[in-house]
Amino acid sequence: MMRSQIIGVGRGVPARVVENKEFESFLDTSDEWIRTRTGISARRVCTHETATSLCMESARGALAQAGIGAEELDLIIVSTITPDTVTPSVACTIQKMLGAPRAAAFDISAGCTGFLYAVTVADQFIRSGMYRSVLVVSVDVLSRVTDWSDRSTCVLFGDGSAAVVLRAGERGIGNAYIRSDGDLDGSLTIPGNPIDNPWNHEDARRQTIAMDGRNVFLFAVNHMTDALEHLGQTCPLDEVDWFIPHQANVRIIELVCKNLGIPREKFYINIERYGNTSSASIPIALSEAAEKGLFKTGDRIALVAFGSGFTWGSMLVEWTL
Ligand code: ACO
Repeated sequence: MMRSQIIGVGRGVPARVVENKEFESFLDTSDEWIRTRTGISARRVCTHETATSLCMESARGALAQAGIGAEELDLIIVSTITPDTVTPSVACTIQKMLGAPRAAAFDISAGCTGFLYAVTVADQFIRSGMYRSVLVVSVDVLSRVTDWSDRSTCVLFGDGSAAVVLRAGERGIGNAYIRSDGDLDGSLTIPGNPIDNPWNHEDARRQTIAMDGRNVFLFAVNHMTDALEHLGQTCPLDEVDWFIPHQANVRIIELVCKNLGIPREKFYINIERYGNTSSASIPIALSEAAEKGLFKTGDRIALVAFGSGFTWGSMLVEWTL
């Protein structure tokens, strides 16, 4: 059966590094509180960059490693909850900028689980034989929707992007598991534009993140554990070489390790330098770990995420680079 294999990875993050200390000048917080409660020391924040420019950097890196031209792409999927424009989609904008005339292109929104959703969709197109080469890019610029006066959220997030090129092959991605539960929708919201027209007047809402941190924390631990237990039904977890979790809070990751009895050293964690970059967090970690030479061909890598919506999921990647 046809499978999807990763043949290139790339990432693009803003140049500006914001250390925890910088928050102390305008918020009642401290570097110590942020580090001990979240594991975050710094994050990247866009100044001149945009979601599109970050995507272009990631996509070019992934295509260069894959050794294929954009004209070979059949499909481009971008996962994001913070596009530069609602329409055109970021995927269509980069389709033009990359020069990918054959590619269909669309964005998907699944919060921090967006990368797993996007790769699962791409994998279906490849397995069915409809497409051979697909670019998946995840990007989020949460600084655009952050309330910088809310110390309980603004210290958590960062901006960034990463991409993978998938190509039809004999080995690669398997065990994709994506789920959702809209019942928990109130625990993390970013409002859209109000419906304000001649027939209905809705006040402009602040389009910033509102979150019940404790609810989200519990959801995250329970559902990332569920997602890995599901993966373990077809691939014993002690046969997995690396785990790449969504990076929201190091304490969430440590509790998942404890629940499942997995050594922490098997989890690749880079939250201290990036914060929570939403759907970009897993592919940024994947691209960094690959660049450091941590993966060998044939390694089994488990990806696991949760996100707003709420959504969650897992996936097994057989490393083919
Ligand atoms: N600096 C100092 N004090 C703070 C800060 C801060 N930045 N933020 C909150 N506090 C205070 C609170 O006001 C509270 O004070 P109080 O006791 O006087 O009321 C105290 O610290 C403890 O607050 P808690 O909410 O109990 O702190 P907790 O240990 O639960 O940590 C946190 C809060 C970090 C938000 C945690 O709940 C968490 O990580 N939740 C999950 C968040 C998450 O993953 N979000 C993203 C999900 S989806 C996506 O990724 C887009």
